[in-house]
Amino acid sequence: MTAELLQGCSTCTACALAYTRQMVVIARGNPNAELMLIGEAPGAREDATGLPFVGRSGQALDRLLSDVGFDLERDLYVCNAVKCRPPNNRRPKRAELAACRPWLDRQLELVDPDVIVLAGATAVEAILGIKGGMSQLRGRWQHWNQRAVMPVFHPSYLLRNPSDAPGAPLDLTRGDLSAVRRRLCER
Ligand code: URA
Repeated sequence: MTAELLQGCSTCTACALAYTRQMVVIARGNPNAELMLIGEAPGAREDATGLPFVGRSGQALDRLLSDVGFDLERDLYVCNAVKCRPPNNRRPKRAELAACRPWLDRQLELVDPDVIVLAGATAVEAILGIKGGMSQLRGRWQHWNQRAVMPVFHPSYLLRNPSDAPGAPLDLTRGDLSAVRRRLCER
């Protein structure tokens, strides 16, 4: 993470979330990775530690990424559309997404990923501007600014739907992440 990004985000007061956060949550993983995963916003554990996807959702996500062969430290950069925790884990408001967007754009510029995974509807809406059901959107390659983009179910949805049966959300997500890995390996 660059000092400029850290300093800028840590002192940001562009929206009201700045006044309820404990820590700004910027990123984890490899800033030189070819893959960037974007989630929604920090939860309680992320707010306390300053790292994205380290709570239950994050553990579920890490397990899936490891299952399909990703090295979590080396192969991806993980961040969120919004860098501060919304109170009670509510969805970020449109104005909060807009206020935080310059930081996400800066991350995209710095990391310059070839492939982006969008975890959940908020990230899909933030990047692709598409509002819709994740059941329709997931698993279909999209393109944004010359980058390949794969929407996947949000890990918190997977925690609420833990069946590992073929065709269940977990199984579908494993398939979607495998497709991402294949695409990166084929290049
Ligand atoms: N934790 C995060 O960092 N992001 C999410 O979208 C959910 C949990």
